[in-house]
Amino acid sequence: MNGKQAAGQKAIEEIREGQIIGLGTGSTVYYFLEALATKVADGFNVIGVATSQKTIKLANEWKIPMRTLSEVEKIDITIDGADEVDPQLNGIKGGGGALLYEKLVAKSSSRCIWIVDSAKTKKQLGAFPLPVEVIPFGWKYVRNYLSEKGYAPTLRLDTDGHPYVTDASHYILDLHLNTIVNPEALANELDHLTGVVEHGLFLGLTEKVIVGYPDGHTETLN
Ligand code: A5P
Repeated sequence: MNGKQAAGQKAIEEIREGQIIGLGTGSTVYYFLEALATKVADGFNVIGVATSQKTIKLANEWKIPMRTLSEVEKIDITIDGADEVDPQLNGIKGGGGALLYEKLVAKSSSRCIWIVDSAKTKKQLGAFPLPVEVIPFGWKYVRNYLSEKGYAPTLRLDTDGHPYVTDASHYILDLHLNTIVNPEALANELDHLTGVVEHGLFLGLTEKVIVGYPDGHTETLN
């Protein structure tokens, strides 16, 4: 047992029969999917909406019935991970590169719950590099703008040293900020920057965070 596993397994208690469930991305969500797959194998009836190709692949392997976001009218509940969470339940997401689809699924959901291990809870956001998803054609313009602002952007690369490409065919700039003093102001600035598709500041989007600890116990923040 580790913190991610504890949080992922605990989140299954939030799920009700017949729900349409947003399925997040990452190594914590893996444990939630595993627990959900066990219930589905026992005849529990749900439909999943994935936030990434990685999650679709896992869900298909585990025979969880799936739809795309455009095939459903609304999502009842989304279970997703996060890279950092502050006491207001604001967070940074996108370490795994799935921020755009994760934010669309979160905003389409009646309820959103995050599952994190205890190392992810922070007094202030920003130690984790903030992902900014950009149109490839304009990535240098956006990088130069963010660089002049002192946000220390780096283009995310894949293991071959090529630009990392998201599921929606965009690039990612990671901002090395150390601390984000005013998340709302930064989100607003990024929302209005030409060439930026989305950023990893998820503000006011989750109602509950399940924190898992290495000894297997969990704590709920809401
Ligand atoms: C994916 O893009 C991210 O937003 C993940 O949800 C986040 O990085 C958490 O990932 P882990 O559960 O693997 O730490």
